[in-house]
Amino acid sequence: MLEQQFIPKACNNLLESGSFTWSSPSNIALVKYWGKREHQIPENPSVSFTLDACKTTTTLSFSKKSNQDEFSFDVFLDGKQQDDFKPKIETFFKRIESYLPFLKDYYFKIETANTFPHSSGIASSASGMSALALCLMSIEKELDSDIPEEFFIQKASFLARLGSGSACRSLKGDLVVWGKHEEIDESSDLFGVKYPFEVHENFKNFHDTILLVDKGEKQVSSTVGHNLMYNHPFAKERFKQAHKNLSELINVFKVGDLKTFINIVESEALTLHAMMMTSMPYFILMKPNTLEIINKIWAFRKETGTHVCFTLDAGANVHVLYPENEAEQVYEFIKNELVAYCQNGHYICDRIGFGAKQL
Ligand code: DP6
Repeated sequence: MLEQQFIPKACNNLLESGSFTWSSPSNIALVKYWGKREHQIPENPSVSFTLDACKTTTTLSFSKKSNQDEFSFDVFLDGKQQDDFKPKIETFFKRIESYLPFLKDYYFKIETANTFPHSSGIASSASGMSALALCLMSIEKELDSDIPEEFFIQKASFLARLGSGSACRSLKGDLVVWGKHEEIDESSDLFGVKYPFEVHENFKNFHDTILLVDKGEKQVSSTVGHNLMYNHPFAKERFKQAHKNLSELINVFKVGDLKTFINIVESEALTLHAMMMTSMPYFILMKPNTLEIINKIWAFRKETGTHVCFTLDAGANVHVLYPENEAEQVYEFIKNELVAYCQNGHYICDRIGFGAKQL
């Protein structure tokens, strides 16, 4: 599928005003996206679990304006005007204008709220950009009611990607693939797709407890990090490795092989951070407590034979992943031994979810 297919046919019957509300989740990558080309095209395919508790709800109100010279919008987070969000949204609007030609016809009021605290170190760009993309697609659907459900989600994912790459994995499905992979016919660099193959019971209802080790603002933005993969000495091998890891996960998901799952997921997390540590300039996002937690998880897993493992985002927080049938035992361990390493003892209990909802 080509970008051109997302350019709508001309439509003159603009709505005067209206409003739409969507709630969209965050996601946690198992095979990581780190490195992109122009136009938000990923250097390698990635796959993620959709989360259920970490969500953004966005209401987009729109009213027709007389001049069509520029974008006009205001953003509110939890009811408070948030001008520092505007440059990111302006860039997003510029990138998607040719796919949504009505953007300059309206003044938009964007009211957004996250279920997780803004200062939790959890990136809200995946849930935020996907929720906004869905609201915009709801306007397009009003203008062209023939848009099929599948295309609606696909284009929402396509648009969300142009806001923030990982956001395109937050639309629909519990496991989502983004980026062309030779064994997954449906996969695309342009949007995320629901993982199309068999998934064993072991991965149903998987848990993710997010340990908030450092709630500060990110020291290095993902965009800067992605750019450091240009001319990175290990980039080529890393991109190859992501393809191989996703290939292996296909069988892991099918047969429920938790041991191999752990090996791949933890290796992906550490490789992501290894790329940061070996870029020029280099940087470290893990904190001492990130390592304490990782070592505790390894010791607990060895001692109990449970299948708890960790993954990391571009930050110091640790996502503790574990299957439903071990949830009680692992949760006790988290409360008794890991929460002490969290900033102010804060953590978030999440699990696999199924995607966005219109409210
Ligand atoms: C480490 O999607 O935040 O979370 O496309 O520049 O907005 P931009 O980057 P972003 O990168 C996320 C990187 C990651 C890994 C992942 O989610 O796959």
